[in-house]
Amino acid sequence: MNATPSSPLRVAIIGAGQVADKVHAAYYRTRDDLQMVAVCDSSEAQAQQFAGRYGIPLACTDVQAMLATARPDVVSVCSPNRFHYEHVMQALAAGCHVMCEKPPAMTVEEADTMRRAARHAGRVLAYDFHHRFALDALLLREQVQAGVLGEVYVTIARALRRCGVPGWGVFTSKTLSGGGPLIDIGIHMLDAAMYVLGFPAVRRVSAHSFQRIGNRKSSGQFGVWDPTTFSVEDAVFATIEFRNGGILRLDTSFALNIPQQSIMNVEFCGERAGATLFPAHVYQDEDGKLVTLCAREAADDNRHLRSMEHTST
Ligand SMILES: NC(=O)c1ccc[n+]([C@@H]2O[C@H](COP(=O)([O-])OP(=O)(O)OC[C@H]3O[C@@H](n4cnc5c(N)ncnc54)[C@H](O)[C@@H]3O)[C@@H](O)[C@H]2O)c1
Repeated sequence: MNATPSSPLRVAIIGAGQVADKVHAAYYRTRDDLQMVAVCDSSEAQAQQFAGRYGIPLACTDVQAMLATARPDVVSVCSPNRFHYEHVMQALAAGCHVMCEKPPAMTVEEADTMRRAARHAGRVLAYDFHHRFALDALLLREQVQAGVLGEVYVTIARALRRCGVPGWGVFTSKTLSGGGPLIDIGIHMLDAAMYVLGFPAVRRVSAHSFQRIGNRKSSGQFGVWDPTTFSVEDAVFATIEFRNGGILRLDTSFALNIPQQSIMNVEFCGERAGATLFPAHVYQDEDGKLVTLCAREAADDNRHLRSMEHTST
């Protein structure tokens, strides 16, 4: 275990794919007080290519060997969902702080064990639920807490795409991802909605899931996939009932026949006012006219950066 953190902090990345590249390494390279010392991927070529791109001295395929050799202070876990549990637990056991990609794990039990292991090790375990770091989410959370909306009794979260099955990675594999749009994109709007609402206690959840398009079509706005191996749901429609009497509707799909290419947003309906998350807009009806109480002109696009910053400080 690294009892004394090094200066600059030593960072290792597990899973050298697109999110490791576009979000994690892209952020770490901007920090003078962080140094990327190792990258690990099950594909040696992928690890080496990534290391070459960022000037990382160690590229390897074995997580345990990487942790022992590079002795990082911080580990970014960017592997497919199936491996989050194993990689987070290994990194925590090696005394590292961990920034893990969403979803935390494949099951609630795994996520809970990870949470307890981090607490026991006295290390930070953070997840890249970046939408809650948008200034829009922060503003709406303040408005909800200040009672501007009154009691919010209906929340509608949507993460919907018209034919937007990911054409890369393992997002269509139940074994490696654990599920489809619910665990991949729905989870983002669910997290943002729950954050704004202040995480009310849940009484009951009911849901319907479908597999009607992902196993029939094979191409869309995010590339080409194999419909014969499409083993996840392609749509979920859920209702979460809270103990406070309110409900949250979550509609999520990789491929739904809707006119919009994509909808990633949340509506909050309170007794006094309503709000839309992206961009943040709080409004009220006055004699049939829509009146804005407060609004951001555009949605905050620096969410990923803020999420990485929050974890690294
Ligand atoms: N926060 C976000 O908005 C966001 C966006 C995209 C992806 N993600 C999450 O990031 C993770 C990776 O997604 P991605 O889009 O980068 O996928 P990707 O397929 O581009 O990258 C995954 C990488 O992990 C490697 N890998 C596979 N098995 C491994 C193992 N056992 N050990 C080490 N490396 C292994 C693969 O070779 C690949 O290079 C997923 O959990 C996904 O949900 C989050």
